[in-house]
Amino acid sequence: MAQASIGVVGLAVMGSNLARNLASREGNTVAIFNRTFEKTESLATAHPEAEFVTTGTYEEFAASLSKPRTAIIMVQAGKGTDAVIDALTEVFEPGDIIVDGGNALYTDTIRRERDVRAKGINFVGAGISGGEEGALNGPSIMPGGSAEAWETLGPILRSIAAIAEGEPCVTHVGTDGAGHFVKMIHNGIEYADMQLIAEAYDLIRQGTGLTPAEIAEVFVEWNTGELESYLIEITAEVLKQVDAKTGKPLVDVILDQAGSKGTGVWTVQTALDLGVPVSGIAEAVFARAVSSKPAQRAAAANLPGPSTPFVVADKEAFIEDVRKALYASKIIAYSQGFDAIVAGAEQYGWDIKKGDIAKIWRGGCIIRARFLNRITEAYAENPGLVALVTAPYFTDAIAGTQDAWRRVVASAAQSGIPTPAFSSSLAYYDGLRAPRLPAAVVQGQRDFFGAHTYKRVDMDGTFHTLWSGDRTEVSAVDSH
Ligand code: 6PG
Repeated sequence: MAQASIGVVGLAVMGSNLARNLASREGNTVAIFNRTFEKTESLATAHPEAEFVTTGTYEEFAASLSKPRTAIIMVQAGKGTDAVIDALTEVFEPGDIIVDGGNALYTDTIRRERDVRAKGINFVGAGISGGEEGALNGPSIMPGGSAEAWETLGPILRSIAAIAEGEPCVTHVGTDGAGHFVKMIHNGIEYADMQLIAEAYDLIRQGTGLTPAEIAEVFVEWNTGELESYLIEITAEVLKQVDAKTGKPLVDVILDQAGSKGTGVWTVQTALDLGVPVSGIAEAVFARAVSSKPAQRAAAANLPGPSTPFVVADKEAFIEDVRKALYASKIIAYSQGFDAIVAGAEQYGWDIKKGDIAKIWRGGCIIRARFLNRITEAYAENPGLVALVTAPYFTDAIAGTQDAWRRVVASAAQSGIPTPAFSSSLAYYDGLRAPRLPAAVVQGQRDFFGAHTYKRVDMDGTFHTLWSGDRTEVSAVDSH
């Protein structure tokens, strides 16, 4: 049997495309394996140019790989991944490398890395973004795992990754689950970005009466400026599309119930545990949930809305306001996402270089966007930046957009157009910059009913007020 330099397990569309990508690079011979051999054979038959080494059992797969063996698993995250890892560890040897390229939950990756390492085998959880097209032509790759594994894996992954401004979109993110953690946050930001763009579309459509095809032109125009990104580009394509069956804009015949595979939910659950407000991402997840409740939506369809219709006097000015509101909200989504990365890195002891993450998101991945360079620059200028939104470039960007942002959120509220991501991003921004927050009232309430104590602005210590007495007495207490 021919010796292969790398193997791929799991030949659904992502795995097939990644295997073809690997095979297309100089010096690679790729072994392929799938639970059902028909799929393995048909991939090899459909792509003779790839010169795949087909294997029908895990033993054959292992025997086909040169040592140290490297295999990338591309199966549905969850139990399937564990089954494949178990099978591979049976036939692999110490020093070999198993890469999980699926969308695994990072805590599973931490566990798997520990278990596989105990057998002397390297385990790398690698987030891979870019969908089918990215897997084939160059994804953005976020590998975790050990530095030793990265030494072998780095050149292979660099050879298949997308290239942005001459640099491959891959970096060793950190140990064990760091790669999948960062991929999860990438997806969270993806959710927020998609929701924000969808809200922008809705506002423009309802506010100006432009058709989807006309709004597509607006997005094409936006894509030449600071909003330039893959998601704006593909949204224009979606809006241009006409349904072959009815002749209507396709967007009008697609059922308005958004699905999800879980990475957005994981991001929010994780952020809640870490105490990081990722409100833009959370609203995007909830917006999908609201859309997917047909019975509630039908029951609520006749609830009262605003009495006056939404009338936009100057359509061009309104569209420009929406563009600015989208840009400002997008900055918040990224700022919150990077806050979650910082918190995760602290919690799990990962040395994650934020600027490098922004760099590897510039190409290949779903959230690739022009302004990622600005994020890299912001962290290069100030590695200890406490919040991305406070970097001078982004502060200036918000200064130039915030009036429009406020007008858009206000008119959306007045006209009854749901803009949860726009609105929550603005509320977060105002919360962050407020000199005093009503959190003092919450602390008072907590101390009143539960003696939960509070701190004071004018002296150190922990205090409790004897509320039922003369209500002025304050005592210093030990914190509890
Ligand atoms: C990517 C995508 C990819 C996928 C997710 C999102 O980076 O290539 O994020 O991982 O499309 O599964 O899917 P849902 O919207 O279904 O959660």
